[in-house]
Amino acid sequence: MTIIRQFQPDDWAQVWPMLQATFATGDTYAFAPDSSESDIYRAWIELPQATYVAAAGDGAILGTYYLKPNQVGLGNHVCNCGYVVAAAAQGQGIARAMCEHSQTEAIAQGFRAMQFNLVVSTNERAVRLWQGLGFQIVGMLPGAFRHVRLGYVDAFVMFKQLVD
Ligand SMILES: CC(C)(COP(=O)(O)OP(=O)(O)OC[C@H]1O[C@@H](n2cnc3c(N)ncnc32)[C@H](O)[C@@H]1OP(=O)(O)O)[C@@H](O)C(=O)NCCC(=O)NCCS
Repeated sequence: MTIIRQFQPDDWAQVWPMLQATFATGDTYAFAPDSSESDIYRAWIELPQATYVAAAGDGAILGTYYLKPNQVGLGNHVCNCGYVVAAAAQGQGIARAMCEHSQTEAIAQGFRAMQFNLVVSTNERAVRLWQGLGFQIVGMLPGAFRHVRLGYVDAFVMFKQLVD
């Protein structure tokens, strides 16, 4: 059984290889493909308000997400999340479960909406998944993502109101 829980320091040994492999492909996140472990630790663990993992019954970490305010001050009621699922665990509903979990957590932590700032247009799985979970494409940023294989591709800003 997979559970979603708060990140614990011991999890990093499994989380870092998953993030490193994901960012190295240069097709879904803006992090430099050769980002250092310390840079990603700071971005994924230290800076966010909270980080979570999806863990299998045997302790294997299958996915991770962070939750943080998208803006400072008067914009800090809108949160931002980033999600990564291990390559071997994709297509099993883990991202869907993490996104649903993150919305519940966000509301519990006082956020009113969730925004994704740079959803790469060629990442069709992610775009469809977020749309299916109620996120709308509210803006298209022309050529805003420098895809490692495809060059400049469009990126979407996606938004979902969490409370009225
Ligand atoms: C995008 C990502 C998070 C999805 O994780 P996942 O656990 O495989 O996703 P899920 O299994 O929960 O859902 C996948 C959905 O995409 C659909 N899907 C599967 N393969 C697909 C494909 N090739 N094209 C489009 N949709 C696809 C599935 O039908 C499913 O939809 P459903 O829940 O309505 O049935 C994962 O692929 C990942 O970590 N990618 C690298 C990092 C990334 O892109 N993060 C998101 C940045 S915005």
